[in-house]
Amino acid sequence: MDWGMQNRLNRIIQADTGHTVMLAVDHGYFLGPLTRLEEPGKTIAPLLPYADALMLTRGVLRQCVDAGANPTVVLRVSGGVSIARDDLSDEGIATSVKEAVRLNASAIALSLFVGTEHERQTLLALGELVNEAEEYGLPVLAVTAVGRELEKRDARYLGLCCRMAAELGARLVKTYYCDDFEKVARGCPVPLVVAGGPKLETERDALELTYASIQRGAIGVDMGRNIWQSDHPIAMIRAIRAVVHEGATVDQAHDLFRELSGARAMAVVAGS
Ligand code: 5RP
Repeated sequence: MDWGMQNRLNRIIQADTGHTVMLAVDHGYFLGPLTRLEEPGKTIAPLLPYADALMLTRGVLRQCVDAGANPTVVLRVSGGVSIARDDLSDEGIATSVKEAVRLNASAIALSLFVGTEHERQTLLALGELVNEAEEYGLPVLAVTAVGRELEKRDARYLGLCCRMAAELGARLVKTYYCDDFEKVARGCPVPLVVAGGPKLETERDALELTYASIQRGAIGVDMGRNIWQSDHPIAMIRAIRAVVHEGATVDQAHDLFRELSGARAMAVVAGS
């Protein structure tokens, strides 16, 4: 592998653990100012020290992130549809590879919409992006998007999407956790990171998802809402890190979350 490509991947995937905690804050590119990401700079700044990489768009990077903080950037380059439409699959490339290089991105990301009317255009966009990005030693991360159809998240569909993304040249794939996730991981010859999806009922649920993903073959998470929509986002990202990088069990990570969020101290006081 070229030095530049390896170096960029190493900035995302931590050498000491082989794992990564990416913080996803790119949602506004089709969802607008969703809850707790209304002012992205305020959401991102306190979490930045705990994120191995930030996944975001060029607009939020430029306007809301301090270049001096030296974040590792995974730049979302696909777009073109909004939540105001029924069909979210009609995406194209909205940000060029040249712009990604100018912004010192460590990887670029686009969504694939396999099985939709726009399957072909998103798959060919991946191929074209890989052709160009590889010239610069820039890894492409493919997101196996499901749009509104969350029920699509099963091993057969995600296994198909992940394998296709790898075959077309993605260096990293972002997908969802599902039953039989190990089958998805086994069929995908490049590293997988897992999205959190919509906010789960409890923090413990998100820690369980993270733990199961790592146990079954993911190298990490690229998580958004289950971190920054928590009432205790710093405690949450630190608990996620404990699972991903330190091999913590769900109980250990949840104890850490409770300790950092003050819940445990309050429970002790209440019981005394
Ligand atoms: C949107 C994305 C998001 O980055 C992704 O869904 C991760 O965030 P969350 O954990 O909130 O699902 O790729 O298309």
